[in-house]
Amino acid sequence: MARAGLDKNPREVAEMFDGVAQGYDRTNSVMTLGFDRRWREWSRRVLDARAGEKVLDLAAGTAVSTVEFAAQGAWCVAADFSLGMLRGGGHRPVPKVAADALNLPFADDAFDAVTVSFGLRNFNDTEAALKEMSRVVRPGGRLMICEASTPVFGPFRWVYKKHLLKILPFVAKFVSSNPEAYHYLAESMREWPDQRTLAEKIARSGWEDVAWFNLTGGLVALHRATKPL
Ligand SMILES: C[S@@+](CC[C@H](N)C(=O)[O-])C[C@H]1O[C@@H](n2cnc3c(N)ncnc32)[C@H](O)[C@@H]1O
Repeated sequence: MARAGLDKNPREVAEMFDGVAQGYDRTNSVMTLGFDRRWREWSRRVLDARAGEKVLDLAAGTAVSTVEFAAQGAWCVAADFSLGMLRGGGHRPVPKVAADALNLPFADDAFDAVTVSFGLRNFNDTEAALKEMSRVVRPGGRLMICEASTPVFGPFRWVYKKHLLKILPFVAKFVSSNPEAYHYLAESMREWPDQRTLAEKIARSGWEDVAWFNLTGGLVALHRATKPL
């Protein structure tokens, strides 16, 4: 399985990520021209997880996102259903759990916060996953989603959707262990809802105080919300 389809069949998605795991972190940095570092720093600041808190980093992949959230002293667990991705992050000193976002192996109200970085777009039922995340977070706990989004400046949005996304699979040929997966990546980014639409989905899934802010002109957006008390 080189790539998944836009129906996001879980088995195909997991196999596809198994295939990109080797060199995933390096490929990511090349594809984002190094902006991934800044996006992760912003995510950490917005989540602001402190010592004594328990954080679930879902769709954590190689745990590159998890170690960033753990940097301020919180206890963070990386969960993902691609064993290849989890193994690729074997050197990172955070606990790792094989788990499907739609059926999490955690008790109700177990975490102070749940995060997903560049993973939500790959779930085959976004709202079901958002509800499942709400189940495992305590009342008053937080959600933080970091995801590719829609550039806010119209002409750039047009160039981005029409041309820039087409470059990703071409660049991937030189840096990825599974270049085919980057066709899926580009297509799923083109189809992904804009900031407001995603905020509405989050609110419909049992979260409140939903807000977002744009990074790099809306190429990426951070959405945050809280679980009602
Ligand atoms: C682009 S990677 C993101 C990894 C990491 N969070 C980061 O910031 O680089 C997306 C990850 O989502 C995981 N994923 C997709 N669907 C999932 C699901 N239903 N349950 C758990 N993990 C899932 C994939 O296996 C993959 O590791």
